[in-house]
Amino acid sequence: TDLDAFIKGLPKAELHLHIEGSLEPELMFELARRNGVAIPYASVEDVRAAYDFSNLQDFLDIYYAGASVLVTRADFHDLAMAYFRRAAADGVVHAEIMFDPQTHTDRGIAFEEVIEGLLSAAEEARETLGMSVQLILSFLRHLSEEEAFATLAMAEPWLDRITAAGLDSSEVGHPPVKFAGVFAAAREKGLKITVHAGEEGPPEYVYQALDLLEVDRIDHGNRALEDAALTQRLAEMGMTLTVCPLSNLKLCVIDDIASHPIDAMLKAGLKATLNADDPAYFGGYIADNYRAVVEGRGLTRADLATLARNSFTGSFLPPDAVARHL
Ligand code: ADE
Ligand code: ZN
Repeated sequence: TDLDAFIKGLPKAELHLHIEGSLEPELMFELARRNGVAIPYASVEDVRAAYDFSNLQDFLDIYYAGASVLVTRADFHDLAMAYFRRAAADGVVHAEIMFDPQTHTDRGIAFEEVIEGLLSAAEEARETLGMSVQLILSFLRHLSEEEAFATLAMAEPWLDRITAAGLDSSEVGHPPVKFAGVFAAAREKGLKITVHAGEEGPPEYVYQALDLLEVDRIDHGNRALEDAALTQRLAEMGMTLTVCPLSNLKLCVIDDIASHPIDAMLKAGLKATLNADDPAYFGGYIADNYRAVVEGRGLTRADLATLARNSFTGSFLPPDAVARHL
């Protein structure tokens, strides 16, 4: 349709994308066969039928199990290239992708296999798709800060090729303060910081992300809207929120797209962006998220252009590169 063409034609940056969450069932089966890994599904349809979540943890259990088919650097390369091709088709010209090393190193996969596969795909995406790519190393918040420090140490030889440190997985019960030390260390090493906050967790976790971790970006941030002073502060400081409408729907953060707060965020002056989060699990890539807020909340083309613009100003690209995209 005309709207689809408009959305795909808008140059966009994707800032909130878990590469393990882009593992489509077809590739999951192919990698399971390639690596001789057993998966608890009989068919691709069977996998898709299992993707019916009632909260974040429900999803995470299935997402971590799915990642078990990723073994060699070729697997990580193929996974990432499949995402880059799909994102390019949606008009993504710059992608900042998160990866969860602990999901792999904890089952005996070397950090080197994970990162070298992702880096070679990033290089191929630059050459063949003209897409720029940055990597965000994310710590799993259900694990300890000590384990996050060990992961940061493993990444040391590659830190010049990693842009930022992130924080994901089970939010409630694992507040940002638990990781204050490791994010201070990450910042010392020159990494930017972006953490999931206010997806299921309370506004207090967003305050902690700002005050204790000194984040450069907030992933999700929906629940910040419950606190007017916090909302105003985020707006005044120009903090970018990486919002994921279809994820919010699938994880029951909202009841339906018609109750998504994206337009409230824009009205409050927040620098919101639209992103896919885990597209293989949530039934849509970035363009589907743009379309969802038009259909669900009546956003205009001017609003979509603002959201796309925010994706570049909120990116970790250097200022001259941001300027070239505006
Ligand atoms: N890991 C992958 N996707 C996530 C999300 N939406 N929230 C927290 N952890 C995640
Ligand atoms: Zn996420």
